[in-house]
Amino acid sequence: MEKSDIIALLNQDLEGEHAAIIQYLTHAYAMGEGEMACEIEAIAREEMRHLDWLAETIVDLGGVPSLQRGEMRMTGQSVAEWMKNDVLQEDDGIKLYKEHIDVIDDPKIKRLLKRILSDEESHRGDFDHFVEKAGREGLKDLRGNRSDGVTRMLNWGIEHEYTVILQYIFQSYMTKDEEASKELEDQAINEMQHLGWLAEEMVGASGTPRIEHTDVDQSTETADMLRADIKIEREVADAYDKAAGETDDPGLKELLIRIRDHEIYHIDVFSDLLEKD
Ligand SMILES: [Fe+2]
Ligand SMILES: [Fe+2]
Ligand SMILES: [Fe+2]
Repeated sequence: MEKSDIIALLNQDLEGEHAAIIQYLTHAYAMGEGEMACEIEAIAREEMRHLDWLAETIVDLGGVPSLQRGEMRMTGQSVAEWMKNDVLQEDDGIKLYKEHIDVIDDPKIKRLLKRILSDEESHRGDFDHFVEKAGREGLKDLRGNRSDGVTRMLNWGIEHEYTVILQYIFQSYMTKDEEASKELEDQAINEMQHLGWLAEEMVGASGTPRIEHTDVDQSTETADMLRADIKIEREVADAYDKAAGETDDPGLKELLIRIRDHEIYHIDVFSDLLEKD
């Protein structure tokens, strides 16, 4: 099999992981803090590991990891119905991995896909169990339809965080500078925390998180990547600072200031890297 064909198949798998991550996180945030939400977030983290392995393999083969997201199943009126959708999402993944294991002849990649497949089979069993558990425990959709300045600001923050998560992860795969790669991955993980905090805050405030992103910088030179990152971090540090000044809610203010301070730290990390570059 040609390298380019393997890359195309792995990117299809990667897009499926991306869709699963956002689908599962949306469900976990919407059901609030609780045991099942934590378990679903843990599954989403495993999908992130899969995405990471797939992207690294694609780069090793000389390819570019896709930034597209596969199909998500976001319908369902109850938590039990969401969990059925998550079972179906795993079924799709299982089917695709089995097909790709059959056609890809590289033994190392075959082994990796088998490793991922075993996780997906385990997730499928977990979600199957959650369908029944959600009904038994009467878990509810805690999201509301509040729409005002606060929910607009939170959704702006969520959109920003999702965008930089993708941007920093993508850059961490594409840069040839090892230190920059590691720092970009670290900051992406920090941005994932921000996304989670903002989404949970949104659900707590009776709003609905909208997990969509804007344009992701796709520079190929490390210096250009870092310049784009510093620019975006400066803009959002200012925006979080302004939003913190405008709210009277002490909990929200504290959260926004904490995130702002992380963004200021990111500016410093990226600026140091740029100076060394
Ligand atoms: Fe899975
Ligand atoms: Fe952030
Ligand atoms: Fe940041």
